[in-house]
Amino acid sequence: MRIAVVHGPNLNLLGTREPEVYGPATLADVNAALTALAGHLGVEVEFFQSNSEGGLVDHVQAVAPRVDGLVVNAGAYTHTSVALRDALVGVARPFVEVHLSNVFAREEFRHRSYLADRAVGVVSGFGIDSYLLGLRGLVGYLGRRGGAGRLVQRKGESSGYDGRFP
Ligand code: DQA
Repeated sequence: MRIAVVHGPNLNLLGTREPEVYGPATLADVNAALTALAGHLGVEVEFFQSNSEGGLVDHVQAVAPRVDGLVVNAGAYTHTSVALRDALVGVARPFVEVHLSNVFAREEFRHRSYLADRAVGVVSGFGIDSYLLGLRGLVGYLGRRGGAGRLVQRKGESSGYDGRFP
């Protein structure tokens, strides 16, 4: 299983950017932690960061054929980008939306996401752990996709969750 991790605008500044909001970890730290978790879970990960909306759209299109799903922190484009939403929906790969900060505890304009309703799930507010939880969630989702898939269940239907951790 192969997962693409996509970081949006200004996430290259992690470590120095508003550390009281985003924490002390650098982007390299985030990617190193994801690589370690991916090894533990037995999956492959690849990383990409861009400050430009078109760069992100191009990358989603290019990477999709070689991955099973994506972990996406679209940064500010989360709240503005129909183009990125269309790209993610268009390539038809499951994705998880992640945010270091709790966007719902911040300014009103961050409460809106153009991606969330098409995501498998959303993780927000746990710092670097948001990415790790997002990767775990996506790998779990992909692993049980043959079953009931995402945890939106009809009455009497199994969730597909097998009860094992991690
Ligand atoms: C962010 C939250 C966004 O609102 C913001 O524009 C970012 C980072 C986060 O990870 O908390 O750039 O996606």
